[in-house]
Amino acid sequence: MTNILIAFYSRTGSIETLANAVADGAMAGGGGVRLRRAREVVGEEVMKQAPGWSEHAARMNALYEAPTEEDAKWADAIIFGTPTRFGLVSSELKAYIDSLGGLWARGRLNLKAGSVFTSTSSFHGGNEATLVTMFVPLAHFGMVIVPPGYADPVMFKAGTPYGASSVSGVKGDAPTPDDLSAARFQGHRVAQVAAALKSLRG
Ligand SMILES: Cc1cc2nc3c(=O)[nH]c(=O)nc-3n(C[C@H](O)[C@H](O)[C@H](O)COP(=O)(O)O)c2cc1C
Repeated sequence: MTNILIAFYSRTGSIETLANAVADGAMAGGGGVRLRRAREVVGEEVMKQAPGWSEHAARMNALYEAPTEEDAKWADAIIFGTPTRFGLVSSELKAYIDSLGGLWARGRLNLKAGSVFTSTSSFHGGNEATLVTMFVPLAHFGMVIVPPGYADPVMFKAGTPYGASSVSGVKGDAPTPDDLSAARFQGHRVAQVAAALKSLRG
């Protein structure tokens, strides 16, 4: 079994939905999956500023454990999912990435597969900027970055070559069926690459 950690942050559910599709694809590709949700770093006074934020967080926290260092150690691949925040990764997911410094120092993430996906509210609101800049910490970790590219017909219809994505709009639309197909393809591809990399790590 190839171990796939899907570590995500989601405030209102788009990334959660994509993460579950990535998980389906990873399992179809032979992976055993842990789905983990990074926890809030902002206080309740911020979470209460928008209707539903606190309720969504409580619902998701009941479903998904917080990602740990042990999860990353266990993983043959880590797929990171984050909403776009001002064109970049959310601070909640970044806090988890920053917690992996000990593993980085011991070379324990080296030659693992790494991949990323995101969601924005507007079509050109920074989805590609978020995904490409997410590659940077993966490179520091020595991970083998696995983008979906255009390696499946669905990638011509949805997502980006850098990672799956969705656009939630002003009303918070759910990911489309094509968005979910792209996410499943990404999960499947990462599971296959992660299986191949295992023999290189010994
Ligand atoms: C603080 C903050 C910053 C955001 N920055 C952007 C942005 O730069 N571009 C964009 O299109 N959407 C931005 N959004 C919207 C989210 O990325 C978008 O709603 C996303 O679909 C949320 O995913 P989630 O439902 O998994 O939380 C921002 C939202 C918040 C709360």
